Amino acid sequence: MIKACIFDLDGVIVDTAKYHFIAWRQLANQLGFDFTKEYNEKLKGISRMDSLNLVLSWGGVQKSEEEKIALATEKNEVYRSYILQMDKREILPGVLPFLEDLRARGIKMAIGSASKNAPTIITQLDLAEYFPVIIDGSKVSRSKPDPEVFLKAASELEVKPKESIVFEDAEAGIEAAISGGFYPVGVGDPKILGEASVVIAGFEGLKLEELSERLLAAVK
Ligand code: BG6
Ligand code: MG
Repeated sequence: MIKACIFDLDGVIVDTAKYHFIAWRQLANQLGFDFTKEYNEKLKGISRMDSLNLVLSWGGVQKSEEEKIALATEKNEVYRSYILQMDKREILPGVLPFLEDLRARGIKMAIGSASKNAPTIITQLDLAEYFPVIIDGSKVSRSKPDPEVFLKAASELEVKPKESIVFEDAEAGIEAAISGGFYPVGVGDPKILGEASVVIAGFEGLKLEELSERLLAAVK
């Protein structure tokens, strides 16, 4: 019996990867190297500092810890200048009707995101009323694939992992959902998210009963 749905934010509710791309590319170019869309793909679900370390390694650039903090702050300021212009028109197709349906059924909802900007994005999208619980990158000590972010969300919602679905677009997030004992639903490409019990292309036309049946069939 499903009692809760926990949503990753970036790539599940909204496409913020395009803004991360602009901000990382600007930083990389400033440091003298290029940053491609392929690199950007690899940063999905990865925390800000871990992302910066990867970006610097791809550019063959070394920086002190102090310099890294300054660079991460700079990248985040560029990123925030974009997300502060977002509004509910950027919510991905089908998400809002699905949240409405969950609310009508009394299903509890939370956000479980690596992003420290998650609360800002939820406010910009006008979705705060759906998510009484937001566990973001500032509330966990271990990043995905560690299940901490989802376990904290379940605990605040007062549900057990085996009563909850996790929606994720990143491999590390699916891994986290599986190791935490949740029902993992991949949002995106089955080739990348094959470990998930069920992979959906998006939320358009999605019905909770059908999804629950597919999940139960997959674990049998
Ligand atoms: C994840 C994104 O949700 O959050 C990553 O997929 C991002 O690309 C990470 O690096 C951290 O985000 P922020 O907003 O704290 O820099
Ligand atoms: Mg994501």
